[in-house]
Amino acid sequence: MQLTQTRTRYLSLLSGLALALTSLNTAAAEKSGREVVEQVCSACHVSGKDNAPKIGDVTAWTQHSKKGLAKLTESAIAGLGKMPGHGGQPSLTDLEVSRAIAFMVSSGKALDPSKPYASPVTMTGERLAQQHCVNCHDVGQAGAPKLNHFEDWKPRLSKGIDGLVNSTISGHKAMPARTGMANLSDTDLRNAVTYLVVQSATYKPK
Ligand code: HEC
Ligand code: HEC
Repeated sequence: MQLTQTRTRYLSLLSGLALALTSLNTAAAEKSGREVVEQVCSACHVSGKDNAPKIGDVTAWTQHSKKGLAKLTESAIAGLGKMPGHGGQPSLTDLEVSRAIAFMVSSGKALDPSKPYASPVTMTGERLAQQHCVNCHDVGQAGAPKLNHFEDWKPRLSKGIDGLVNSTISGHKAMPARTGMANLSDTDLRNAVTYLVVQSATYKPK
């Protein structure tokens, strides 16, 4: 009697362990955004079939990416209009779907597009600004207020930080919604805006 109980306990422990290992394996095998897009999403999102927003069409994606990655992931998982749930590939995990979206919205420039990443990246404002925002804000591309040129920022400060953050969420003239990166959260954007403004206000040329 005693022996059987101990055996049962061991067995259930073992099967629990096996389960844990299986889920570890699945996590490790999850595909990168680029892989999922090439294998699944590109079927419609390259040609723009049935009005699917095309990869590379910043204007089309900006309409969608305002919603944020969590909402977009929800609609891609559930399906939307002519798009079947999970893009027609039910084996994709939520994480794989969200990586694929981040990849498409940024025209393949999502941070770390080739490597799988564990969760949507949370970065300091400075790191995000240096890795991404400066692509336009260093040279002042298309009229972007330049980093370290406070006179470019001054007229915009009347909107307040909240107003400026809203511009980055919804997009503003030549700047796409979420600055072209669907995986950036409102908090990421606020941190980066704050960095750009404070850094520019306090910059002293050497
Ligand atoms: C069979 C064609 C097809 C495939 C495959 C497909 N999509 Fe789509 N997708 C569409 C269409 C059509 C729309 C526009 C739907 C609408 O607005 O009615 C769309 C829209 C979207 C949107 C915008 C959703 C929103 O809420 O605004 C996202 C995000 C998206 N697709 C992600 C994906 C991802 C990720 C994959 C691959 C895993 C994928 N799609 C595969 C056809 C497809
Ligand atoms: C693709 C180029 C591009 C990228 C990348 C980009 N911006 Fe911009 N940004 C612009 C342009 C262009 C403007 C000026 C738009 C205008 O007012 O004409 C602008 C304006 C702004 C403004 C002022 C908005 C307003 O309401 O006056 C803020 C704030 C801002 N960007 C923050 C950011 C942050 C933060 C990032 C990175 C997370 C970023 N931008 C990335 C192009 C870009």
